[in-house]
Amino acid sequence: MSQASPSPSGVTLVAETPDLDLKIEALLDHAFGPGRFTKVSERVREIASFRPDLSYCAFVEGRLVGVVRQYEIRIGDQPAIFLGPLAVMADARKFGTGGLLVARACEAAAASGHPVVLLVGDEPYFSRLGFSSAQTRGVVLPGPVDQRRVLSRGAQSPLIGLVQAI
Ligand SMILES: CC(C)(COP(=O)(O)OP(=O)(O)OC[C@H]1O[C@@H](n2cnc3c(N)ncnc32)[C@H](O)[C@@H]1OP(=O)(O)O)[C@@H](O)C(=O)NCCC(=O)NCCS
Repeated sequence: MSQASPSPSGVTLVAETPDLDLKIEALLDHAFGPGRFTKVSERVREIASFRPDLSYCAFVEGRLVGVVRQYEIRIGDQPAIFLGPLAVMADARKFGTGGLLVARACEAAAASGHPVVLLVGDEPYFSRLGFSSAQTRGVVLPGPVDQRRVLSRGAQSPLIGLVQAI
């Protein structure tokens, strides 16, 4: 494991590495179930560029309990990061791990020159992590979506255009 960084809650975050792939897949199946691949976010991930260096795994006492992945995209002409999937094991939720993963992912995205992060998710959860739909009315995803679930962070002006490959 590289880039380990323990937090006050006993959670250690590490950047994603290929050896973690099977465990991550099992976690994502556990968190999202069979509908996992039907989401519009999956259509985005099919065309986007995966950034393992901006994706993080959460461990507690050596056990993988959470993951957040990030991808590079363009929204129209604007380069951006697409966040997700985000998942935490059911028995490890409500300890702040999801929030920690999102905060680290956004920090890493900004440090890599990508302050704008886009996702499709529940506004009541992601609003407390700095996301809103204020700048996303003009964002067009490659499939049907409830536009209220299209959220961004770090955008200083409206995001306009199709989400596409970089
Ligand atoms: C969403 C998820 C990652 C949160 O992980 P977590 O480690 O529990 O997150 P945190 O501890 O930072 O936050 C927990 C808080 O968020 C709330 N919360 C979780 N999901 C929520 C949602 N969809 N809408 C509103 N609030 C939500 C919890 O009730 C809890 O509230 P509390 O602090 O008042 O008790 C986790 O519930 C999960 O894996 N869910 C299934 C997969 C999923 O829906 N992923 C996000 C889709 S993009």
